[in-house]
Amino acid sequence: MRKNIVAGNWKMNTTLQEGIALATSVEKWVSEHPSKVKVIVAPPFTHLSDVGKVLHHVGLSSQNCSSEVSGAYTGEVSVSMLTSVNAAYAIIGHSERRSIYGETDAILAKKVKIALQAGLTPIFCCGEILKERESNIHFDVVRKQIEEALFILTPEEFSHIIIAYEPVWAIGTGVNATPAQAQEMHQYIRKLILSKFGASLADDLSILYGGSCKPSNAHELFANPDVDGGLIGGASLKAEDFIGIIQAF
Ligand code: PGA
Repeated sequence: MRKNIVAGNWKMNTTLQEGIALATSVEKWVSEHPSKVKVIVAPPFTHLSDVGKVLHHVGLSSQNCSSEVSGAYTGEVSVSMLTSVNAAYAIIGHSERRSIYGETDAILAKKVKIALQAGLTPIFCCGEILKERESNIHFDVVRKQIEEALFILTPEEFSHIIIAYEPVWAIGTGVNATPAQAQEMHQYIRKLILSKFGASLADDLSILYGGSCKPSNAHELFANPDVDGGLIGGASLKAEDFIGIIQAF
């Protein structure tokens, strides 16, 4: 069944102590305000174990995972390491991983597959850069990202996927996609999934919007029929703002 989800991507922010304090505040609010919205936080790797211990109503996600299972990969973090600290989700294919660290569609396809095999739920990110939108090829760009990494999955595997549409020009810029732009792309993505995996999986898929989402614009973004929640960067670093976004449903 399609879920409403608000996930906080902390990126490379917070010390361990700050992260535990932030997670504790979010956990407290969520535990006192039961709702159908699934709340997730994605702290840095170093914080996962300790942050996980304060979370009981909030899901725990990594921001990345290795494309390899184990072995001589200095500096990498494997999916089994993540599940061993009780992470349930992994953000895969964030635009910062794609653009700064050169992660290709082929690498991301591998990451999605091994994350699923380990029992993690991938939060798979896609989205176009400004030039691509201005050239009117944004639908093609997003289609290719999804086809390359997700069309290799079996329907059963795909049923565990969450997609986050994050137009790169909206990430950290303060300029969010308009509700109409978000809805248009989310609807496009759902139709694409329908053509590959059928109506039931397309209907059950949660598609999150990411890119300068904040308490002041979350409501109008989430009000769209194909926008099932948000992947939140900057505004997830303050409990008050993050909670404001959760309340937008
Ligand atoms: P932002 O980041 O909310 O700071 O724009 C979103 C993201 O990168 O996931």
